[in-house]
Amino acid sequence: MSETAKFILDGETYEFPVTTGSENEKGIDISKLRGQSGYVTLDPGYKNTGATESAITFLDGEKGILSYRGYSIEELAEKSTFLEVAYLLIEGELPNKEQLEDFNENIRKHTLVAEDMRKFYQAFPHHAHPMGVLGSLVNSLSSFYPESQDPNRSEDAVDLTIYRLIAKVPTLAAWSHKNAQRHPVVYPKNELNYSENFLQMMFSVPSEDYKIDPVVAKALDLLFILHADHEQNCSASTVRIVGSSQANLYASISAGISALWGPLHGGANQAVIEMLENIKNDGGDVTKYLDKAKDKNDPFRLMGFGHRVYKNFDPRARIIKKACDDVLDALGIDDPVLDIAKKLEKAALEDQYFVDRKLYPNVDFYSGIIYRAIGIPTEMFTVMFAIGRLPGWIAQWKEMIETKQPIGRPRQIYTGANARNYVELSKR
Ligand code: ACO
Repeated sequence: MSETAKFILDGETYEFPVTTGSENEKGIDISKLRGQSGYVTLDPGYKNTGATESAITFLDGEKGILSYRGYSIEELAEKSTFLEVAYLLIEGELPNKEQLEDFNENIRKHTLVAEDMRKFYQAFPHHAHPMGVLGSLVNSLSSFYPESQDPNRSEDAVDLTIYRLIAKVPTLAAWSHKNAQRHPVVYPKNELNYSENFLQMMFSVPSEDYKIDPVVAKALDLLFILHADHEQNCSASTVRIVGSSQANLYASISAGISALWGPLHGGANQAVIEMLENIKNDGGDVTKYLDKAKDKNDPFRLMGFGHRVYKNFDPRARIIKKACDDVLDALGIDDPVLDIAKKLEKAALEDQYFVDRKLYPNVDFYSGIIYRAIGIPTEMFTVMFAIGRLPGWIAQWKEMIETKQPIGRPRQIYTGANARNYVELSKR
Protein backbone atom coordinates (compact mmCIF):
# COMPACT_ATOMS: atom_id res chain seq x y z
CA MET A 1 0.00 0.00 0.00
CA SER A 2 1.34 3.43 -0.83
CA GLU A 3 2.36 5.69 2.02
CA THR A 4 0.00 8.50 3.05
CA ALA A 5 0.11 11.37 5.54
CA LYS A 6 -2.84 12.22 7.78
CA PHE A 7 -3.66 15.74 8.91
CA ILE A 8 -6.20 16.27 11.66
CA LEU A 9 -7.75 19.70 11.32
CA ASP A 10 -10.80 20.85 13.32
CA GLY A 11 -11.31 17.23 14.33
CA GLU A 12 -11.50 16.06 10.70
CA THR A 13 -8.89 13.68 9.28
CA TYR A 14 -7.52 14.33 5.79
CA GLU A 15 -5.26 11.94 3.98
CA PHE A 16 -2.59 12.96 1.46
CA PRO A 17 -0.34 10.90 -0.77
CA VAL A 18 3.39 10.75 -0.11
CA THR A 19 5.63 11.14 -3.16
CA THR A 20 8.98 9.35 -3.04
CA GLY A 21 11.88 10.46 -5.22
CA SER A 22 14.51 8.27 -6.88
CA GLU A 23 16.93 8.95 -4.00
CA ASN A 24 14.18 8.14 -1.50
CA GLU A 25 13.38 11.75 -0.66
CA LYS A 26 9.82 12.03 0.58
CA GLY A 27 7.26 14.77 0.15
CA ILE A 28 3.65 15.06 1.25
CA ASP A 29 1.55 16.11 -1.72
CA ILE A 30 -0.72 18.74 -0.19
CA SER A 31 -1.97 20.16 -3.50
CA LYS A 32 -5.58 19.25 -2.55
CA LEU A 33 -5.30 20.47 1.08
CA ARG A 34 -7.02 23.81 0.61
CA GLY A 35 -9.75 22.41 -1.64
CA GLN A 36 -10.62 19.77 0.95
CA SER A 37 -10.05 21.57 4.26
CA GLY A 38 -9.78 25.33 3.60
CA TYR A 39 -6.27 25.33 5.13
CA VAL A 40 -3.02 26.25 3.38
CA THR A 41 0.51 25.49 4.57
CA LEU A 42 2.67 28.38 5.78
CA ASP A 43 6.39 28.16 5.07
CA PRO A 44 8.21 31.53 4.78
CA GLY A 45 11.24 31.28 2.50
CA TYR A 46 9.92 27.86 1.33
CA LYS A 47 12.39 26.26 3.74
CA ASN A 48 10.37 23.07 3.83
CA THR A 49 8.44 23.23 0.59
CA GLY A 50 9.14 21.14 -2.48
CA ALA A 51 7.99 23.30 -5.37
CA THR A 52 8.33 20.60 -8.00
CA GLU A 53 9.48 17.11 -8.84
CA SER A 54 12.67 17.38 -10.87
CA ALA A 55 15.06 14.96 -12.59
CA ILE A 56 17.95 17.37 -13.10
CA THR A 57 20.07 17.85 -9.98
CA PHE A 58 20.24 15.89 -6.75
CA LEU A 59 21.74 17.21 -3.59
CA ASP A 60 21.88 15.75 -0.13
CA GLY A 61 22.75 18.60 2.19
CA GLU A 62 23.31 16.36 5.20
CA LYS A 63 25.81 14.13 3.41
CA GLY A 64 27.31 16.86 1.20
CA ILE A 65 26.41 15.12 -2.09
CA LEU A 66 25.74 16.91 -5.38
CA SER A 67 25.08 15.29 -8.76
CA TYR A 68 23.81 16.45 -12.14
CA ARG A 69 21.56 13.88 -13.88
CA GLY A 70 23.08 11.18 -11.66
CA TYR A 71 26.76 12.03 -12.29
CA SER A 72 28.70 13.21 -9.24
CA ILE A 73 30.00 16.77 -9.30
CA GLU A 74 33.46 15.45 -8.38
CA GLU A 75 33.60 13.24 -11.49
CA LEU A 76 32.17 15.88 -13.81
CA ALA A 77 34.62 18.46 -12.46
CA GLU A 78 37.52 16.13 -13.11
CA LYS A 79 36.57 14.64 -16.46
CA SER A 80 34.16 16.82 -18.43
CA THR A 81 33.99 20.26 -19.99
CA PHE A 82 31.47 22.99 -19.33
CA LEU A 83 29.66 22.57 -22.64
CA GLU A 84 29.43 18.81 -22.07
CA VAL A 85 27.85 19.52 -18.68
CA ALA A 86 25.53 22.11 -20.24
CA TYR A 87 24.35 19.47 -22.73
CA LEU A 88 23.91 16.93 -19.94
CA LEU A 89 21.78 19.30 -17.86
CA ILE A 90 19.62 20.46 -20.74
CA GLU A 91 19.24 17.19 -22.68
CA GLY A 92 19.38 14.75 -19.77
CA GLU A 93 22.23 12.54 -21.07
CA LEU A 94 25.93 12.97 -21.69
CA PRO A 95 26.49 13.75 -25.38
CA ASN A 96 28.38 11.40 -27.69
CA LYS A 97 31.17 12.91 -29.78
CA GLU A 98 28.90 13.90 -32.65
CA GLN A 99 26.21 15.37 -30.41
CA LEU A 100 28.81 17.43 -28.56
CA GLU A 101 30.30 18.71 -31.81
CA ASP A 102 26.83 19.71 -33.05
CA PHE A 103 26.05 21.41 -29.76
CA ASN A 104 29.39 23.26 -29.84
CA GLU A 105 28.82 24.28 -33.44
CA ASN A 106 25.31 25.53 -32.77
CA ILE A 107 26.60 27.68 -29.93
CA ARG A 108 29.65 28.88 -31.82
CA LYS A 109 27.43 30.15 -34.69
CA HIS A 110 25.53 32.48 -32.39
CA THR A 111 28.24 34.17 -30.33
CA LEU A 112 27.85 37.53 -32.11
CA VAL A 113 25.15 39.84 -30.84
CA ALA A 114 23.19 42.21 -33.07
CA GLU A 115 25.34 45.25 -33.72
CA ASP A 116 22.45 47.46 -32.56
CA MET A 117 22.88 46.06 -29.07
CA ARG A 118 26.24 47.77 -28.76
CA LYS A 119 24.36 51.08 -28.60
CA PHE A 120 22.73 50.04 -25.33
CA TYR A 121 26.14 49.99 -23.67
CA GLN A 122 26.71 53.66 -24.47
CA ALA A 123 23.66 54.52 -22.38
CA PHE A 124 25.01 52.83 -19.24
CA PRO A 125 27.34 54.86 -17.01
CA HIS A 126 30.84 53.37 -16.70
CA HIS A 127 30.19 52.55 -13.04
CA ALA A 128 27.04 50.50 -13.86
CA HIS A 129 27.18 47.15 -12.06
CA PRO A 130 27.70 44.48 -14.75
CA MET A 131 24.93 42.33 -13.26
CA GLY A 132 22.44 45.14 -13.88
CA VAL A 133 23.77 45.54 -17.41
CA LEU A 134 23.66 41.79 -18.11
CA GLY A 135 20.11 41.37 -16.77
CA SER A 136 18.85 44.28 -18.90
CA LEU A 137 20.59 43.11 -22.05
CA VAL A 138 19.49 39.49 -21.74
CA ASN A 139 15.91 40.71 -21.40
CA SER A 140 16.35 42.98 -24.40
CA LEU A 141 17.52 40.02 -26.54
CA SER A 142 13.84 39.06 -26.70
CA SER A 143 13.14 42.21 -28.70
CA PHE A 144 15.60 41.06 -31.38
CA TYR A 145 13.96 37.64 -31.63
CA PRO A 146 10.22 38.35 -31.40
CA GLU A 147 9.44 34.77 -32.48
CA SER A 148 10.84 33.66 -29.09
CA GLN A 149 7.88 35.21 -27.29
CA ASP A 150 5.98 31.94 -27.41
CA PRO A 151 7.64 29.40 -25.11
CA ASN A 152 5.58 26.56 -26.61
CA ARG A 153 6.99 26.80 -30.11
CA SER A 154 8.50 23.85 -31.93
CA GLU A 155 11.41 22.06 -30.28
CA ASP A 156 13.79 23.45 -32.91
CA ALA A 157 12.71 27.00 -32.22
CA VAL A 158 13.19 26.54 -28.47
CA ASP A 159 16.62 24.99 -29.11
CA LEU A 160 17.57 28.03 -31.18
CA THR A 161 16.77 30.33 -28.26
CA ILE A 162 18.81 28.08 -25.97
CA TYR A 163 21.84 28.16 -28.31
CA ARG A 164 21.55 31.91 -28.66
CA LEU A 165 21.47 32.41 -24.92
CA ILE A 166 24.44 30.16 -24.15
CA ALA A 167 26.38 31.76 -27.00
CA LYS A 168 25.56 35.40 -26.39
CA VAL A 169 25.62 35.71 -22.60
CA PRO A 170 29.48 35.56 -22.43
CA THR A 171 29.71 38.15 -25.21
CA LEU A 172 27.29 40.48 -23.43
CA ALA A 173 29.08 39.89 -20.11
CA ALA A 174 32.56 40.60 -21.50
CA TRP A 175 31.25 43.71 -23.23
CA SER A 176 29.86 45.02 -19.94
CA HIS A 177 33.43 44.82 -18.59
CA LYS A 178 34.82 46.59 -21.65
CA ASN A 179 32.14 49.24 -21.25
CA ALA A 180 33.11 49.79 -17.61
CA GLN A 181 36.65 50.44 -18.79
CA ARG A 182 35.44 52.58 -21.68
CA HIS A 183 37.44 50.29 -23.98
CA PRO A 184 36.30 49.10 -27.40
CA VAL A 185 34.44 45.82 -27.32
CA VAL A 186 36.19 42.68 -28.58
CA TYR A 187 34.28 40.39 -30.93
CA PRO A 188 34.04 36.64 -30.37
CA LYS A 189 36.57 34.36 -32.07
CA ASN A 190 34.79 31.18 -32.89
CA GLU A 191 37.86 28.99 -33.31
CA LEU A 192 38.34 29.24 -29.54
CA ASN A 193 36.52 27.11 -27.00
CA TYR A 194 33.83 28.59 -24.74
CA SER A 195 36.04 29.68 -21.84
CA GLU A 196 38.93 30.80 -24.06
CA ASN A 197 36.59 32.89 -26.15
CA PHE A 198 35.23 34.60 -23.06
CA LEU A 199 38.77 35.34 -21.82
CA GLN A 200 39.83 36.90 -25.11
CA MET A 201 36.69 39.08 -25.19
CA MET A 202 37.42 40.19 -21.61
CA PHE A 203 41.13 40.78 -21.83
CA SER A 204 42.42 41.32 -25.33
CA VAL A 205 42.97 44.90 -26.47
CA PRO A 206 43.67 46.16 -30.00
CA SER A 207 47.08 47.51 -28.98
CA GLU A 208 48.70 44.22 -27.97
CA ASP A 209 48.57 40.45 -28.44
CA TYR A 210 46.66 38.50 -25.82
CA LYS A 211 47.82 34.96 -25.18
CA ILE A 212 45.34 32.70 -23.46
CA ASP A 213 46.90 30.85 -20.54
CA PRO A 214 45.59 27.25 -20.60
CA VAL A 215 45.72 27.13 -16.77
CA VAL A 216 43.38 30.13 -16.65
CA ALA A 217 41.01 28.76 -19.31
CA LYS A 218 40.81 25.40 -17.53
CA ALA A 219 40.18 27.02 -14.14
CA LEU A 220 37.37 29.07 -15.63
CA ASP A 221 35.80 26.01 -17.25
CA LEU A 222 35.93 24.21 -13.89
CA LEU A 223 34.25 27.11 -12.09
CA PHE A 224 31.52 27.17 -14.74
CA ILE A 225 30.93 23.42 -14.25
CA LEU A 226 30.70 23.80 -10.47
CA HIS A 227 28.14 26.58 -10.82
CA ALA A 228 26.09 24.95 -13.58
CA ASP A 229 23.05 23.94 -11.52
CA HIS A 230 21.92 23.67 -7.93
CA GLU A 231 18.28 22.53 -8.06
CA GLN A 232 15.54 24.79 -6.66
CA ASN A 233 17.67 27.68 -5.37
CA CYS A 234 16.50 31.31 -5.33
CA SER A 235 17.44 32.13 -8.94
CA ALA A 236 16.34 28.79 -10.46
CA SER A 237 13.00 29.10 -8.65
CA THR A 238 12.72 32.64 -10.00
CA VAL A 239 13.37 31.44 -13.55
CA ARG A 240 10.71 28.74 -13.13
CA ILE A 241 8.14 31.07 -11.60
CA VAL A 242 8.61 33.78 -14.24
CA GLY A 243 8.57 31.15 -16.98
CA SER A 244 5.44 29.58 -15.51
CA SER A 245 3.49 32.68 -16.60
CA GLN A 246 4.59 31.71 -20.16
CA ALA A 247 6.93 34.70 -20.30
CA ASN A 248 9.68 34.03 -22.84
CA LEU A 249 12.97 32.36 -21.97
CA TYR A 250 15.04 35.57 -22.27
CA ALA A 251 12.77 37.32 -19.75
CA SER A 252 12.88 34.30 -17.43
CA ILE A 253 16.70 34.12 -17.52
CA SER A 254 16.95 37.87 -16.98
CA ALA A 255 14.85 37.46 -13.83
CA GLY A 256 17.19 34.68 -12.70
CA ILE A 257 20.16 37.02 -13.17
CA SER A 258 18.46 39.59 -10.92
CA ALA A 259 17.77 36.98 -8.24
CA LEU A 260 21.37 35.76 -8.38
CA TRP A 261 22.73 39.27 -7.88
CA GLY A 262 21.83 39.47 -4.16
CA PRO A 263 24.64 38.95 -1.62
CA LEU A 264 22.74 36.13 0.09
CA HIS A 265 22.86 34.21 -3.21
CA GLY A 266 25.37 34.57 -6.07
CA GLY A 267 26.40 38.07 -5.00
CA ALA A 268 28.16 36.40 -2.06
CA ASN A 269 31.27 35.78 -4.20
CA GLN A 270 31.85 39.52 -4.51
CA ALA A 271 30.94 40.06 -0.84
CA VAL A 272 33.41 37.35 0.28
CA ILE A 273 36.43 38.92 -1.39
CA GLU A 274 35.43 42.35 -0.10
CA MET A 275 35.11 40.87 3.41
CA LEU A 276 38.49 39.11 3.18
CA GLU A 277 40.12 42.31 1.93
CA ASN A 278 38.60 44.23 4.85
CA ILE A 279 39.90 41.67 7.33
CA LYS A 280 43.37 41.86 5.77
CA ASN A 281 43.38 45.67 5.81
CA ASP A 282 42.16 45.61 9.39
CA GLY A 283 45.22 43.62 10.54
CA GLY A 284 44.07 40.07 9.74
CA ASP A 285 42.39 39.33 13.09
CA VAL A 286 39.89 36.62 12.07
CA THR A 287 38.55 36.19 15.63
CA LYS A 288 37.28 39.75 15.63
CA TYR A 289 35.19 39.00 12.53
CA LEU A 290 33.95 35.67 13.85
CA ASP A 291 32.75 37.52 16.95
CA LYS A 292 30.98 40.08 14.79
CA ALA A 293 29.31 37.26 12.81
CA LYS A 294 28.08 35.67 16.05
CA ASP A 295 26.79 38.94 17.53
CA LYS A 296 23.03 39.06 16.89
CA ASN A 297 23.10 42.86 17.25
CA ASP A 298 25.62 43.15 14.46
CA PRO A 299 24.26 42.75 10.90
CA PHE A 300 27.63 41.31 9.78
CA ARG A 301 27.50 37.73 8.47
CA LEU A 302 30.41 35.59 7.50
CA MET A 303 29.99 35.75 3.74
CA GLY A 304 30.59 32.47 1.91
CA PHE A 305 29.51 30.53 4.98
CA GLY A 306 26.26 28.71 5.56
CA HIS A 307 23.76 27.34 3.11
CA ARG A 308 20.03 26.75 3.07
CA VAL A 309 20.49 23.12 2.10
CA TYR A 310 24.06 22.05 3.00
CA LYS A 311 24.45 21.18 6.64
CA ASN A 312 27.80 19.61 5.86
CA PHE A 313 30.66 20.57 3.52
CA ASP A 314 29.45 21.98 0.23
CA PRO A 315 31.21 19.53 -2.14
CA ARG A 316 31.81 22.38 -4.59
CA ALA A 317 33.71 24.30 -1.89
CA ARG A 318 36.08 21.34 -1.41
CA ILE A 319 36.81 21.18 -5.15
CA ILE A 320 37.26 24.95 -5.40
CA LYS A 321 39.57 25.09 -2.37
CA LYS A 322 41.86 22.52 -3.99
CA ALA A 323 41.64 24.28 -7.38
CA CYS A 324 42.47 27.56 -5.65
CA ASP A 325 45.77 26.15 -4.37
CA ASP A 326 46.56 24.56 -7.75
CA VAL A 327 45.74 27.64 -9.83
CA LEU A 328 47.63 30.07 -7.60
CA ASP A 329 50.62 27.68 -7.61
CA ALA A 330 50.53 27.26 -11.38
CA LEU A 331 50.32 31.02 -11.90
CA GLY A 332 52.98 31.69 -9.24
CA ILE A 333 50.65 33.94 -7.26
CA ASP A 334 50.95 34.39 -3.52
CA ASP A 335 47.68 35.98 -2.39
CA PRO A 336 47.60 36.93 1.31
CA VAL A 337 43.81 36.89 1.12
CA LEU A 338 43.97 33.11 0.58
CA ASP A 339 45.80 32.76 3.91
CA ILE A 340 43.12 34.87 5.62
CA ALA A 341 40.41 32.69 4.03
CA LYS A 342 42.06 29.50 5.29
CA LYS A 343 42.54 30.94 8.79
CA LEU A 344 38.95 32.11 8.87
CA GLU A 345 37.62 28.74 7.69
CA LYS A 346 39.67 26.84 10.28
CA ALA A 347 38.60 29.15 13.11
CA ALA A 348 34.91 29.00 12.09
CA LEU A 349 34.89 25.21 11.80
CA GLU A 350 36.25 24.98 15.37
CA ASP A 351 33.84 27.56 16.77
CA GLN A 352 30.80 26.25 18.68
CA TYR A 353 28.44 28.81 17.10
CA PHE A 354 29.27 27.58 13.59
CA VAL A 355 29.42 23.92 14.68
CA ASP A 356 25.97 24.12 16.35
CA ARG A 357 24.39 25.71 13.28
CA LYS A 358 26.24 23.40 10.86
CA LEU A 359 27.69 26.37 8.97
CA TYR A 360 30.36 25.34 6.45
CA PRO A 361 32.10 27.21 3.63
CA ASN A 362 29.88 27.33 0.53
CA VAL A 363 30.75 27.48 -3.18
CA ASP A 364 31.47 31.19 -2.97
CA PHE A 365 34.05 31.13 -0.18
CA TYR A 366 37.05 30.36 -2.37
CA SER A 367 35.76 31.07 -5.90
CA GLY A 368 36.55 34.80 -5.70
CA ILE A 369 40.18 34.07 -4.93
CA ILE A 370 40.49 32.08 -8.16
CA TYR A 371 38.61 34.72 -10.15
CA ARG A 372 40.97 37.34 -8.79
CA ALA A 373 44.02 35.24 -9.59
CA ILE A 374 42.90 34.89 -13.21
CA GLY A 375 42.33 38.63 -13.53
CA ILE A 376 38.54 38.89 -13.25
CA PRO A 377 37.58 42.19 -11.56
CA THR A 378 35.57 41.88 -8.34
CA GLU A 379 32.35 43.40 -9.72
CA MET A 380 32.36 40.74 -12.46
CA PHE A 381 32.38 37.79 -10.02
CA THR A 382 28.63 37.37 -9.90
CA VAL A 383 28.48 37.69 -13.69
CA MET A 384 30.86 34.72 -13.87
CA PHE A 385 28.46 32.78 -11.67
CA ALA A 386 25.59 33.75 -14.00
CA ILE A 387 27.45 32.44 -17.08
CA GLY A 388 28.07 29.16 -15.26
CA ARG A 389 24.50 28.87 -13.96
CA LEU A 390 22.88 29.56 -17.34
CA PRO A 391 22.54 25.91 -18.48
CA GLY A 392 21.00 25.04 -15.11
CA TRP A 393 18.42 27.80 -15.43
CA ILE A 394 17.66 26.69 -18.97
CA ALA A 395 17.30 23.05 -17.91
CA GLN A 396 14.99 24.04 -15.04
CA TRP A 397 12.87 26.21 -17.35
CA LYS A 398 12.69 23.48 -20.02
CA GLU A 399 11.62 20.86 -17.51
CA MET A 400 8.98 23.22 -16.12
CA ILE A 401 7.56 23.88 -19.63
CA GLU A 402 7.75 20.24 -20.78
CA THR A 403 6.04 18.92 -17.67
CA LYS A 404 3.33 21.58 -18.08
CA GLN A 405 3.66 23.04 -14.61
CA PRO A 406 0.88 25.41 -13.56
CA ILE A 407 1.57 29.10 -13.01
CA GLY A 408 3.55 29.64 -9.78
CA ARG A 409 1.29 31.48 -7.41
CA PRO A 410 1.66 30.93 -3.65
CA ARG A 411 -1.10 31.67 -1.14
CA GLN A 412 -0.79 33.83 1.97
CA ILE A 413 -2.32 34.25 5.39
CA TYR A 414 -3.70 37.76 5.45
CA THR A 415 -2.94 39.68 8.68
CA GLY A 416 -4.04 43.20 7.68
CA ALA A 417 -7.02 45.35 8.68
CA ASN A 418 -10.53 43.92 8.46
CA ALA A 419 -13.12 45.56 6.20
CA ARG A 420 -13.58 49.23 7.09
CA ASN A 421 -15.29 52.23 5.57
CA TYR A 422 -13.41 54.66 3.38
CA VAL A 423 -12.89 58.07 5.06
CA GLU A 424 -13.05 61.11 2.77
CA LEU A 425 -9.70 62.93 2.41
CA SER A 426 -11.15 66.12 3.95
CA LYS A 427 -12.09 64.18 7.11
CA ARG A 428 -8.72 62.50 7.70
N1 ACO B 1 27.32 34.05 9.45
C1 ACO B 1 26.82 34.05 10.71
N2 ACO B 1 25.69 33.41 11.08
C2 ACO B 1 25.04 32.73 10.12
C3 ACO B 1 25.49 32.67 8.79
C4 ACO B 1 26.68 33.37 8.47
N3 ACO B 1 27.15 33.36 7.23
N4 ACO B 1 24.64 31.93 8.05
C5 ACO B 1 23.67 31.52 8.90
N5 ACO B 1 23.92 32.00 10.15
C6 ACO B 1 23.14 31.73 11.36
C7 ACO B 1 21.88 32.56 11.40
O1 ACO B 1 22.10 33.79 12.07
C8 ACO B 1 20.95 31.65 12.14
O2 ACO B 1 21.30 31.70 13.53
P1 ACO B 1 20.15 31.55 14.66
O3 ACO B 1 19.62 30.15 14.49
O4 ACO B 1 20.88 31.78 15.93
O5 ACO B 1 19.13 32.61 14.36
C9 ACO B 1 21.32 30.25 11.66
O6 ACO B 1 22.70 30.37 11.29
C10 ACO B 1 20.51 29.77 10.46
O7 ACO B 1 20.62 30.76 9.43
P2 ACO B 1 19.43 31.19 8.48
O8 ACO B 1 19.65 32.59 8.01
O9 ACO B 1 18.11 30.87 9.13
O10 ACO B 1 19.64 30.16 7.30
P3 ACO B 1 19.07 30.30 5.86
O11 ACO B 1 18.96 28.93 5.32
O12 ACO B 1 17.84 31.15 5.83
O13 ACO B 1 20.20 31.13 5.09
C11 ACO B 1 22.12 31.68 3.85
C12 ACO B 1 21.17 30.57 4.29
C13 ACO B 1 21.33 32.86 3.25
C14 ACO B 1 23.05 31.16 2.75
C15 ACO B 1 22.95 32.15 5.08
O14 ACO B 1 23.72 31.08 5.58
C16 ACO B 1 23.86 33.34 4.76
O15 ACO B 1 23.39 34.49 4.83
N6 ACO B 1 25.16 33.09 4.40
C17 ACO B 1 26.05 34.17 4.01
C18 ACO B 1 25.78 34.57 2.56
C19 ACO B 1 26.28 33.54 1.58
O16 ACO B 1 27.40 33.07 1.66
N7 ACO B 1 25.42 33.25 0.59
C20 ACO B 1 25.77 32.30 -0.50
C21 ACO B 1 24.99 31.05 -0.35
S1 ACO B 1 25.49 29.90 -1.60
C22 ACO B 1 24.71 30.47 -2.98
O17 ACO B 1 23.63 30.97 -2.95
C23 ACO B 1 25.41 30.37 -4.21
